[in-house]
Amino acid sequence: MALSGTNRMALTRCPRLLPNVCSRASSWWSGVEMGPPDAILGVTEAFKRDSNPKKMNLGVGAYRDDNGKPFVLPSVRKAEELLVSQKLDKEYLPISGNAEFCKEAIKLALGDDNPALADGLNVTVQAISGTGALRVGSAFLSKFFPGPKNVWLPAPTWGNHVPIFKHVNMDVQQYRYYDPKTCGFNFSGALEDIAKIPKGSLIMLHACAHNPTGVDPKPEQWDEMSKVIKERELLPFFDMAYQGFASGDVARDAYAVRKFLEDGHKICLSQSFSKNMGLYGERAGAFSIICQDKDEAARVLSQVKILIRPMYSNPPLHGSRIVAAILTNPELRAIWLNDVKGMADRIISMRTKLKANLAKEGSVKDWSHITEQIGMFCFTGMTPDQVDKLTSEFSVYLTKDGRISVAGIASTNVDYLAHAMHQVTK
Ligand SMILES: Cc1ncc(COP(=O)(O)O)c(C=O)c1O
Repeated sequence: MALSGTNRMALTRCPRLLPNVCSRASSWWSGVEMGPPDAILGVTEAFKRDSNPKKMNLGVGAYRDDNGKPFVLPSVRKAEELLVSQKLDKEYLPISGNAEFCKEAIKLALGDDNPALADGLNVTVQAISGTGALRVGSAFLSKFFPGPKNVWLPAPTWGNHVPIFKHVNMDVQQYRYYDPKTCGFNFSGALEDIAKIPKGSLIMLHACAHNPTGVDPKPEQWDEMSKVIKERELLPFFDMAYQGFASGDVARDAYAVRKFLEDGHKICLSQSFSKNMGLYGERAGAFSIICQDKDEAARVLSQVKILIRPMYSNPPLHGSRIVAAILTNPELRAIWLNDVKGMADRIISMRTKLKANLAKEGSVKDWSHITEQIGMFCFTGMTPDQVDKLTSEFSVYLTKDGRISVAGIASTNVDYLAHAMHQVTK
């Protein structure tokens, strides 16, 4: 007798109902189907299984040094030494997290003397890194956002944005962002689509180093977008996971966020210190809402705390202490700014070398987008078939959309990568 998944599940939970149908031992979870591997973390799993000594993992967005090794920033090492020497306790943080961390995180994004901070308009809570900040933000928006319960995302966007908003039952819509013909920003398409978004909606913007495309609007394009978003009375939610990583300059990478505030927008903001401080596993991030006045901020904060408490009670301590130590100590801060610049510069030099090596290989394709795009990722424009070949024939691992993490390329294998890319695209 053929049984549907649901019937099979019901029977295995209640085997005594039909003893002769359920002859094998029952399990609560026999009806659970195998899910697909994560599009990005699945690439790492496949990479680990490959025994080719030339293999490259360009899937995951984690910075590597020029030997292809994980990199702990010198400023982070020094901050940790300082923290250990202070023999601090390990008590719970408040629901909203480490107050010093929150204060410094939002100052880093908005600028020290931003009037919104002087006027106490920001609600800032520590979150479980950028992903956690987006989860707290989406939970708040799904409950309290007075506009339509949907979010407008750029096409394409970071893969996790969609399930994060779906998880809180918000519909996901997209506006044009990337132009496959130029491998650049579709400015006119984006403006046209944004101008049609229903008034009072929520729009998500990548503050800098757009993931997965590496394509950012220019400052004058941000200015124009700010105007249209204002006209449509949209609420901008900035995802800032790469401050400093795009240009090597934390103020320059905060241009859009600061400009929107200057233009009178009230924004939501998620921040991550995974990339710019290399604190991937420490999960240090922040979620902020800029409110109309102090009274509104107090009410919003009270509700954000009510959402966090049953989610994870309070955030982890160590990462937030590292961030706060670096941002408050002038000596550590100077070392960190240099660390960020060093990482951004190494990525930029890998872009230049990859493009030059493709030309040396004899590629006649236009690869100028490799150096025009910015940040950790390059959207190469390779097709899924070319990606498959790159992996099966050259052991170069990347996501199906042709995105490579430039931060995963080293001086020792950039020529191998160029050779492989030319072989699959010629
Ligand atoms: C656009 C974007 N947002 C958020 C995140 C979240 O990062 P994390 O949770 O590691 O801080 C990432 C990480 O890749 C990202 O690319």
